[in-house]
Amino acid sequence: MTTTVQPGTTSARPAVTTRPYHHRLGTSVHLLPQTDQLRALHTVVRDRDARREDFVFYAGRIIRLLTEAALNLLPFEPYDVTTPIGRTYRGLRFAENLVGVPIVRAGESMEAELRAVVPGIRIGKVLIQRDRTTKRPHLYYTAFPQDIATRQVLLLDPMLATGGTALAAIEVLRDLGVPEENIVFVTFITCPEGLSAVCDRYPGVRIVTSAIEEGLNENAFMMPGIGDFGDRYFGTD
Ligand code: PRP
Ligand code: MG
Repeated sequence: MTTTVQPGTTSARPAVTTRPYHHRLGTSVHLLPQTDQLRALHTVVRDRDARREDFVFYAGRIIRLLTEAALNLLPFEPYDVTTPIGRTYRGLRFAENLVGVPIVRAGESMEAELRAVVPGIRIGKVLIQRDRTTKRPHLYYTAFPQDIATRQVLLLDPMLATGGTALAAIEVLRDLGVPEENIVFVTFITCPEGLSAVCDRYPGVRIVTSAIEEGLNENAFMMPGIGDFGDRYFGTD
């Protein structure tokens, strides 16, 4: 199913709240264990002088960890197999259909790692760009499987800052009938403002992230942050 949507500013509004999110840790908000390895990976990608090939490689490693953590949140059902010596292994398998939905453009940096761990996964697209001046998200284009309302959706975007983009993307999915509980938002880096914006509006959506920053500066950049993830990953300005 490919739909061309009316270009324009969505009804989503950037967050104005910075309410605490800590009570949601472990339920709505899943933060990767802050291991020394993860901090070392972050140290490479947050360095303003990082070479682009290092940024892409080490960001990819963190995205792989995020992807695995997101898959852990999906439903499984009992599934037995017979082992080579004829015994039964009482196992599990994914209970639901999956679809990955990168928020283009920067979300496409997360698509390859998802494809690498879920071969043949269906991939939808939602193209949302923030206005460079107002920072308000514009929705330009969507493409989804016909049966998306019955699928578990991994929504991919490396940055959740004010939350405006995430809210716009979730609104699109909700309009198509996807229950909040079927949406896992996978994001590289976020902040209290963005978490509050999504959790307050969509408490059933789960968020997986590798870092929660101090907050936003006056230009809606996270601090200490990583800069513009998309520009750094793709090598554009
Ligand atoms: C960036 C980023 C997120 C969004 C986060 O996208 O990829 O989509 O901003 O900000 P928000 O939470 O305040 O909405 P941008 O529109 O800059 O374009 P890009 O994906 O092409 O980098
Ligand atoms: Mg984006």
